[in-house]
Amino acid sequence: MTSHQPAGPGRVLNQPVTARYPELPGRVAVITGAARGMGARFAVGLATRGVDVVAGDIDAEAMAATADELNAALAVESLEKPPGRIVASTVDVTRAGDHLALARRAEAEFGHVDFWVNNAGIFPFAEVADISAEQIRATLSVNVEGVLFGAQAAAACLRPGGAIVNMSSVSAVRVRRGRAAYCSSKAAVAHLTESLAVELGDRGIRVNAIAPGYIDTEMTRWISDDAPALAKALDAVPLHRFGSPEEVFGVLLFLLSDSARYVTGHSIAVDGGSRHV
Ligand SMILES: NC(=O)c1ccc[n+]([C@@H]2O[C@H](COP(=O)([O-])OP(=O)(O)OC[C@H]3O[C@@H](n4cnc5c(N)ncnc54)[C@H](O)[C@@H]3O)[C@@H](O)[C@H]2O)c1
Repeated sequence: MTSHQPAGPGRVLNQPVTARYPELPGRVAVITGAARGMGARFAVGLATRGVDVVAGDIDAEAMAATADELNAALAVESLEKPPGRIVASTVDVTRAGDHLALARRAEAEFGHVDFWVNNAGIFPFAEVADISAEQIRATLSVNVEGVLFGAQAAAACLRPGGAIVNMSSVSAVRVRRGRAAYCSSKAAVAHLTESLAVELGDRGIRVNAIAPGYIDTEMTRWISDDAPALAKALDAVPLHRFGSPEEVFGVLLFLLSDSARYVTGHSIAVDGGSRHV
């Protein structure tokens, strides 16, 4: 039984999402950027619900360690049904061939692929006047090409009823100083999601995006560790707190489930309302 922490300014609520979807056990998911942060949380959350996961990251060592740790934790959890297995794989999402290798790995390990989560992303800082060609290329390569190549690999192996979820951001619709490359890459992900939904709908594949606001991961640790920056950030969040990876997972779970079977081409904000401020 999960005890409920009260919500309050500055708090992060980590208690597990309780939603379960009975159709999920036996399904297979590929998740990129899963060595840490939200991707790791997605992997263990799905495996808890009986979904087998191929978890990919460019940081091979961290990915292997995370998968070992999560599988060990799943083995001692008392679950109603057996958990899924998390298999670590190395992937650089900027390389189309790496995505195809992920798909082949999932098919070899589990026989099929049902879900593909394009989660890997980078968050560089540079004022518009200073941004280098290399920085903009790297950002678009990981955040946009990474999603496109992932969707192409997914389209080649997902069965009708399959689903793709892309990680966009509240930054797709809000301007953040020093984040022009990141914001424009996430706006591209939101639009790409709509294009993919239109074209892959022919194959019975749904494509949606999640647009998180401030979520408590390594990506935002520099804000949580800096009191004035944190106060400024929380001022722009109607719920006055950062979200947790688990709270983003709750929306991912819904989008992958049959409860979302008529939802495609949509970006769901998980941002405590910050897109409105
Ligand atoms: N944390 C937030 O507040 C926030 C808000 C909005 C959107 N997002 C998006 O959510 C996603 C996950 O964010 P997070 O906070 O968990 O990030 P994170 O930095 O904690 O984890 C990102 C992971 O992606 C991996 N990665 C980076 N480049 C890669 C590549 N080329 N190939 C494969 N893996 C690569 C990293 O090694 C890392 O493990 C990202 O797309 C991010 O842009 C995060």
